[in-house]
Amino acid sequence: MGKASEKKSINFLRGIPAEEALSRLIPIASEGYEKAINRYGTDVLQYGHFNGFKPLRDLIGQSHHVDPERVIVGNGGLEVISLFFKSLPSGSNIIVEEATYDRTMVDAERYGHNLIGVELTSTGINLNQLKEVANKIPAAVFYGIPFHQNPTGINYSEENRQAVEQICREQSILCAWDICYELLRYDGNKNTSITVSEWGPILMSSFTKTISPGTKCGYIVLPKDYVEHMGKVVANTRINPNLPTQAFIADFIESGKYSDFKYSDFLDYLCALYKPKMDALNLSLNAHFPGASPVDISGGFFASVSLKKITPDKEESFIKSAQEAGVGIAAAWDAVAPNLREKKRKDGLFTRLTFPAYEPEQIQWGIAKLKELEELSR
Ligand SMILES: Cc1ncc(COP(=O)(O)O)c(C=O)c1O
Repeated sequence: MGKASEKKSINFLRGIPAEEALSRLIPIASEGYEKAINRYGTDVLQYGHFNGFKPLRDLIGQSHHVDPERVIVGNGGLEVISLFFKSLPSGSNIIVEEATYDRTMVDAERYGHNLIGVELTSTGINLNQLKEVANKIPAAVFYGIPFHQNPTGINYSEENRQAVEQICREQSILCAWDICYELLRYDGNKNTSITVSEWGPILMSSFTKTISPGTKCGYIVLPKDYVEHMGKVVANTRINPNLPTQAFIADFIESGKYSDFKYSDFLDYLCALYKPKMDALNLSLNAHFPGASPVDISGGFFASVSLKKITPDKEESFIKSAQEAGVGIAAAWDAVAPNLREKKRKDGLFTRLTFPAYEPEQIQWGIAKLKELEELSR
């Protein structure tokens, strides 16, 4: 079949890294894993410490300026978040953003926790609402995604982030920031890293989007006095994590090829690769859905849009017609905090869009198609 007759399509659903990024990783990973086995031998093939591979914990500790004893490295960001939720007393109240990573909410609910959503603004959390909730409900944790938020793409201002931390401290709420998109900023600026003190905040992160989902590695930085408790939960759940992966990642970081600007590093490459894709998404959303996204995104993997004309009764047929036209989307209600779902439904169909795996033209085509279908919907 010739290119002209190939049916165009795009799947806005799955937030996966670009294939070319993973291909570029092949020689680095194959060399890195070989080196890890040769260098550490049975140390990484045997049971190891449940809190992770020491050299990687040391490097992560250094990068956040904390004692590495406070770092637990696991098999992905979700695993460490899940273990953290597991470590809380069942039935804990967790404050979340009005829209957040759906899997973490489902997971928290499985442990019997209650979720309370607080509105997002274009610069972070609605602070008055957070204060109100924190005064009314004895919450154990606030969980937020401050950099290039999943699913909205919002980047918190530093002031907002610090105000959230302050409120949490005053109310003895553990403040947990999921920073897995911090390093993925494509607009030429750098995000200001979060300062960690003795009390916190807790940091959770992942190498899934900055290295590879298949290698599955993530970590959590805890307040000193929480490490022992969490360590027991970790040890009883999975003993040690995948050690060869952690040794490979430690070597990658140490080599300077991951994030050191002296070299042509991998993170720089990713940011350059994803920038035109992000620009295409921002341009198309502004052209076709002005005002329907909370912000122009500046990095990460996601943006969100609310399609006003698609009322709840039209959702199913609209998603089906989009699918038939080659545009994969879904309603993102699972990503909305239960207490705010009804309100958010009034803005129309809420959907999360991802872009890093696609070409700019494909993204532009997909957004234009969505607009065309929305106009046609009745
Ligand atoms: C906000 C957020 N946290 C955590 C994760 C999960 O990371 P991992 O694949 O390392 O479990 C993701 C992945 O998409 C994410 O978007």
